[in-house]
Amino acid sequence: MILLGTAAGGGCPQWNCACVLCTAGLPPRTQDCAAISAGDGWYLLNCSPDIRAQILGTPELRAGPGPREIPLRGVLLTDAELDHTLGLLMLRESGGLPVWAPPAVLTALSPFSSVVDSYGGWTWSSVVDLPGLRVEVLPVSDKRPKYASASDGPWVVAYRISDPATGGVLVYAPCLRSWPAGFDEFVADASLVLLDGTFYAPDEMAGVGGPDQLAMGHLPITAGLPRVAGRRWAFTHVNNTNPVLDPASPEHAAVLAAGATLPPDGSRFTL
Ligand code: MLT
Ligand code: MN
Ligand code: ZN
Repeated sequence: MILLGTAAGGGCPQWNCACVLCTAGLPPRTQDCAAISAGDGWYLLNCSPDIRAQILGTPELRAGPGPREIPLRGVLLTDAELDHTLGLLMLRESGGLPVWAPPAVLTALSPFSSVVDSYGGWTWSSVVDLPGLRVEVLPVSDKRPKYASASDGPWVVAYRISDPATGGVLVYAPCLRSWPAGFDEFVADASLVLLDGTFYAPDEMAGVGGPDQLAMGHLPITAGLPRVAGRRWAFTHVNNTNPVLDPASPEHAAVLAAGATLPPDGSRFTL
């Protein structure tokens, strides 16, 4: 598994933001996206607006050996938010890929799908089928994107992806509004859990005049940290307001002290 991007919507620095962290000269982070492989081709977990740079910066994902051959085999979406889906439009030259997402997400994305379908080869389904991997889906929240019209969820899911060949289990849950029912069982034997690290504390967006975190559909890290003990957990989808981005901050130290990590873009994990 490769973490292609580890920031929340807007990345860090965010183009329209002059907050302390966006102007601190920290190593940049692109928007949340990961790639997984069981040996034959790569699948994207979400598809960020930064996907072009993420692919070009990742030797495993670059085209070849044929002139237009690519190693991407499909895309799994956890939700319909633009920071997780705009990259699909950037991949219009792919020749088409299978996209898997919950039904409400596919409906919300129908304007996108009608655009990229014109370029050919895309399929859209709620029944995930990754050759060589077992995928389980857990609905985790009904937080609907601002642009989408109301309809029944689930709007956000987490994925539990197991490789029967290695026994490795990855849980990918970058958007959690609360600790979802069934989540403890879902992560019980995971080799690695990638968890929503958008905000550290419940009042963080106040500093940039934003809505509160729970309204934005993100459980603060402080609420999840006590549950980390003894597991291999890493936070991703980190917002540019989150003090953990500064390695010298007490909040960063608290995450590490709890036994979790804050891997940078480009981190690789073998499970
Ligand atoms: C989110 O993660 O809550 C969304 O990406 C917010 C947004 O970008 O509008
Ligand atoms: Mn987001
Ligand atoms: Zn900022």
